[in-house]
Amino acid sequence: MRTHYCGELNSGHNGQEVVLCGWVQRRRDHGGVIFIDLRDREGLVQVVFDPDRAEMFSRAEQVRNEYVLQIKGLVRPRPAGTINAELPTGAIEILGLELEVLNSSETPPIQLDTHAADASEELRLRYRYLDLRRPEMQNRLRTRARVTQHLRNYLDRNGFLDIETPILTKSTPEGARDYLVPSRTHPGEFFALPQSPQLFKQLLMMAGMDRYYQVARCFRDEDLRADRQPEFTQLDIEVSFLDENALMTLMETMIRELFRDVLGVALPDPFPRLTYQEAMRRFGSDRPDLRVPLELIDLADLMENVDFQVFAAPAKDPNGRVVALRLPKGGELTRKEIDAYTQFVGIYGAKGLAYIKVNDWTNKGRDGLQSPIVKNLPDAALVGIMERTGAMDGDLIFFGADKASVVNESIGALRVKLGQERGLMDEQWRPLWVTDFPMFEYDAANQRWAALHHPFTAPQENQLALLESDPGACLSRAYDMVLNGTEIGGGSIRIHRAAVQQQVFKLLAISDEQAEDRFGFLLKALKFGCPPHGGMALGLDRLVMLMTGATSIRDVMAFPKTQTAACLLTDAPSTVDETQLKELALRLRTRT
Ligand code: AMO
Ligand code: AMP
Repeated sequence: MRTHYCGELNSGHNGQEVVLCGWVQRRRDHGGVIFIDLRDREGLVQVVFDPDRAEMFSRAEQVRNEYVLQIKGLVRPRPAGTINAELPTGAIEILGLELEVLNSSETPPIQLDTHAADASEELRLRYRYLDLRRPEMQNRLRTRARVTQHLRNYLDRNGFLDIETPILTKSTPEGARDYLVPSRTHPGEFFALPQSPQLFKQLLMMAGMDRYYQVARCFRDEDLRADRQPEFTQLDIEVSFLDENALMTLMETMIRELFRDVLGVALPDPFPRLTYQEAMRRFGSDRPDLRVPLELIDLADLMENVDFQVFAAPAKDPNGRVVALRLPKGGELTRKEIDAYTQFVGIYGAKGLAYIKVNDWTNKGRDGLQSPIVKNLPDAALVGIMERTGAMDGDLIFFGADKASVVNESIGALRVKLGQERGLMDEQWRPLWVTDFPMFEYDAANQRWAALHHPFTAPQENQLALLESDPGACLSRAYDMVLNGTEIGGGSIRIHRAAVQQQVFKLLAISDEQAEDRFGFLLKALKFGCPPHGGMALGLDRLVMLMTGATSIRDVMAFPKTQTAACLLTDAPSTVDETQLKELALRLRTRT
């Protein structure tokens, strides 16, 4: 039906007759001539109809926005003075010779020009097929397709097999709730949709497949955020007979080549690595944004014996932490701005945000400091703070003192916020690996240990004894890939010995019967010659979100769900017929 895409035409086509198909972006009537901006996947081109061809002219008069047209015309240079340098097709226009209206359109409920982003997200999701016509969205999905293609090629070149795993399956624990599917043929029984293909990919290693990958849909019923969807896509990978160093090298090479080829960006080689402990100490986060130059500085040893209990108590508490965060030139902050930051850390449970404005320490010492807490601190402590933070006149120092978890979360978040709001970000790509995660974290509410990654992650060989004596101190062979403060992937070397797996289940308070019931097939498989293996999964949506500069993963998914896990376009989830329920042997009840 066409000879070219609208957006690919340029001066090289001058004099050619072309046939185009597309949507009307805009129609303008100008002193007897009609201009139609015709849009397709590749871009926009201007078509001109003049009254000489009366029938075509009157058809052109009828068209409205989003009508679908087929146009035959002649490519010609635009008259001098009307060239649009902003538009790739801006040096030419099409003299319209024939016009066929392939379809009309009602007035679209969202504008598809530059103001489209102003439309509410609700409207955009309800009319997603219109929203997706916008060049911004088209470009994001196009980049997504390129990214997936590139990653597939890399894995294919490196001997990985693309293998599909079931969607109707048994629960795979990744820390979220399962989506359940009732079975008709087994009344009262349910499938779970996979939170990840974790167990199947391990079984594929046991099956001797050696290198597996899958662009895998995962389902997790959890609280949603800007970078989380109930249904999302992983690039899921597993290999046999490789240790974590070789695996991390293979994975970061893949990402480096991806950024080089798709964005023209050179990522560091190798990616820097931080242990979990160092990441928490310096940045208060296990996914630090390395674009922000600020770091948390520990002060507990200086504060143990001061009278100021806000600092002294957590300084003495083994689970407490006292830190400083120096903001260069922070002396410019107003009282109002400091109050706003105090409110911000409050979201993370901080009870306050002490600060010192270093006005003139050089000449006036203590009297040159402006602060609600200086009066509470002896000279030695002040000198210690100034030395350790390296603060200079004109700087501001923030303080956090509380349980370590509260300090890490609140001051860690403040660090990133200051980086963004005070213009401290270097506009670069800063990937890193975080390694040496603890195996377990203590779940105080339920008084038991929980797996920090998942229960199939192997402990480090020299840490095995700690499984018995001090589980909290036991380190795992897990690693996360972090980019600009977002966790884009995670993985580990797995347990490949049945006895260790049983020991870990026991520690997680999974009884022998429960283990048998939920993971019996895995425990059995481990006994039939399981190779050492490991892998990782990249969050494809998150990766594409970062690469396209989108602020929400919904903007890189064709048909995402809302924050309450609903699809506005199709109106899912929805109720079902009584007969369907009956077939499934289900009866509804109200939630208590
Ligand atoms: P994990 O749970 O860390 O590991 O998931 C891997 C990556 O998937 C992305 N991700 C999400 N993206 C969007 N919405 C969500 N709800 C969501 N949850 C996770 C993140 C994350 O880093 N089986 C293991 C991997 C392995 O060990 O091989 C797993 O699923 O970017
Ligand atoms: P107060 O002694 O409660 O008047 O607090 C003195 C200063 O310490 C105020 O600036 C508070 O914001 C700050 N502050 C209070 N609690 C904490 C805390 N846990 N961590 C950091 N600063 C705090």
